[in-house]
Amino acid sequence: MNRGQIAPSILSADFASLSAELERISNADWAHIDVMDAHFVPNLTLGLPVVEALQKVTPIPLDCHLMIEDPDRWAPAYAEAGAGSVTFHIEAARDPRHLARTLRAAGARASMALKPATPFEPYEELLPEVDMVLVMTVEPGFGGQSFMADQMPKVAQVREAVRRHGGEIWVQVDGGVSAATIEQCAEAGADVFVAGSAVYGAESAAGAVDELRALASAHLA
Ligand code: DX5
Ligand code: ZN
Repeated sequence: MNRGQIAPSILSADFASLSAELERISNADWAHIDVMDAHFVPNLTLGLPVVEALQKVTPIPLDCHLMIEDPDRWAPAYAEAGAGSVTFHIEAARDPRHLARTLRAAGARASMALKPATPFEPYEELLPEVDMVLVMTVEPGFGGQSFMADQMPKVAQVREAVRRHGGEIWVQVDGGVSAATIEQCAEAGADVFVAGSAVYGAESAAGAVDELRALASAHLA
């Protein structure tokens, strides 16, 4: 029986206490790490040294979401650092096929992300190269934004393509995912759910993870 996977985003955590903040989500499937370079998106967060440090202190697999220019150059090091999954933006990649192969060869799951305005069709041919497709449900750059329900047809389209293609490719949503919006994501075909403010803004972060997972699992397409 399939169940939804929950990946809390530490973008909404206390950056002065990341190790303790990861302990608050010990029941999560992944820890979602938003890497921003102030070029691909208008915000700057953290990079490889912090990911390497987190990798040493947490047993939770890291799901690195790279909102950066030139992922062809920078992404492989995150896989080499031990990240379980590395997501690059398709809008920024020069040779996504080669990049995905490099990430997999380094032992990570390879994933491609699509901004809200980016269509999926031109990239469907890359499905054999990736383990996950991330459909952004906000404009990347900041936590706490409103969920874009108009991305649900794209989620359904990716899920349908994955079904046709076969194999185990996950469909992730990221941005504005909460108890109020996660069911429609699951119904559309998502099976990995990033939630920042909905988890770290809750009194019990672990409780929020359990609640989101239960809601998602009951509505998986
Ligand atoms: C946005 C990031 C998201 C963000 C989600 O650019 O990719 O991962 O942290 O935060 P919420 O869940 O608060 O929208
Ligand atoms: Zn993210």
